[in-house]
Amino acid sequence: MEYTANNQRYSSMEYRRCGKSGLKLSALSLGLWHNFGYVDPLANCRAILLKAFDSGITHFDLANNYGQPSGSAEENFGRILKRDLHPYRDEIIISSKAGYYMWPGPYGEWGSKKYLVASINQSLKRMGVDYVDIFYHHRPDPDTPLEETMSALDLMVRQGKALYVGISNYQAEEAAKAFAILKGLGTPCLIHQPKYSMFVRWAEKDLLSLLEKDGVGCIPFSPLAQGLLTNKYLKEIPSDSRVARKLENGAMGEDAITDVAISKAQQLAKIADERGQTLAQMALAWILKDKRITSVLVGASKPEQITDSIKCLNNYNFSDEELKSIENILQG
Ligand SMILES: NC(=O)c1ccc[n+]([C@@H]2O[C@H](COP(=O)([O-])OP(=O)(O)OC[C@H]3O[C@@H](n4cnc5c(N)ncnc54)[C@H](OP(=O)(O)O)[C@@H]3O)[C@@H](O)[C@H]2O)c1
Repeated sequence: MEYTANNQRYSSMEYRRCGKSGLKLSALSLGLWHNFGYVDPLANCRAILLKAFDSGITHFDLANNYGQPSGSAEENFGRILKRDLHPYRDEIIISSKAGYYMWPGPYGEWGSKKYLVASINQSLKRMGVDYVDIFYHHRPDPDTPLEETMSALDLMVRQGKALYVGISNYQAEEAAKAFAILKGLGTPCLIHQPKYSMFVRWAEKDLLSLLEKDGVGCIPFSPLAQGLLTNKYLKEIPSDSRVARKLENGAMGEDAITDVAISKAQQLAKIADERGQTLAQMALAWILKDKRITSVLVGASKPEQITDSIKCLNNYNFSDEELKSIENILQG
C-alpha cells in the first residue's frame, strides 16, 4: 500500500540541538544494526521504519557493516527509502559509518583514507542516495595517523558526500585530538557515538564533559544494553529475542544473561513500575535526563517496541531519591 506519513508526526517528539551545531535530532533515533538485513523479513523492516518516522523519529543510523550479510541493512534501507520515504528525504537524517571489517585485503577496515573514501562511495550506492547527513569514523585506528582519518572525513564534506561528520567508540583523550584536527580543517565534529547505558558508564568519567566543552553532540548506542534493560529477559529468554536468535555481528549472546544482570534488571523494573514506566522507558529516560545527550539510539525488532520506548519522553525527570535507589542497584 502506498505510504503517506502521519501528519501529526512532529507533535509529540522532542528535538534537541546537536552540540553547538545548527542541526537538531529527534530525542530518539533508530539504529539498523540488527533486524534490517537480508535475514530479516523486509515487511517488518518497513513497518519498524515507518512507525519510527510516523512517531517523529527523523534520524536513522546505519553503517557499512550493518545487517546480515554486511551491507544488507543499507540496501534494505535504500529500498524502503525509494518506495516510501523518498518524498520525505529532506525531513530525514541518514547516518552511516566505516571502521569495521568490510572486505578482504589491507583497505577493507580501520581508518585509512583509501578505506573510508571507498566505503562511503559503496554506502551511497547501496542506499541509493547522493549524500548522507552524518558520516562517522566507527572506531579508532591504532595505526593510521589521526590526521589522515580526519582529513578523509573533511574530504567527504567538501565533496558533498556527507553534510556532517562524527566519531564513535573514541575515548575522551583521542576524541579531544580528533575534535582539534577537525576544527583546524574547518569541518567541526558534529557528534560522538559512545556505548552508554545504566550498565555501561565509562562515558561519564570524562567524555560527556569534553563533549559539552567542545560543543559536540552525544548519541549513546545500545541504551537498553541490547534488551537487558527491558522486561524481556526478567523471567526467561524469549524465543524471538536477540539472544535466542543467536545472531552474529557482535550481538549479545546467552552469556550476557547473568544472574547479576537479571537481578539488577528485576530491581530496576520495580522502580520503573513505581514511576509508571516500563523498564525500557526508564532506562531511556535515565539517559535523556542529561541535557548533554542529544538523542538515544535505540534498536527495535518490532514496531510496538518503538511505540513503547518513545513513551520515555513522558517523564525523564528523576527525584534524588529515585536516582539514589537506582545507583544503589547499579553499584550493588
Ligand atoms: N557505533 C557503534 O559501534 C555501535 C555499536 C552497536 C550499536 N550501534 C547503533 O546503536 C543502535 C542500537 O543498538 P542496540 O540495538 O544494541 O540498542 P538497544 O536499544 O540497547 O537494544 C535494542 C533491542 O532491545 C530490545 N528492545 C527495544 N525496545 C524494546 C522495548 N521497548 N521493550 C522491550 N525490548 C525492547 C529489542 O530486542 P529483541 O531484538 O530481542 O526484540 C531490540 O532489538 C544500533 O542499531 C546501531 O545503529 C552502534
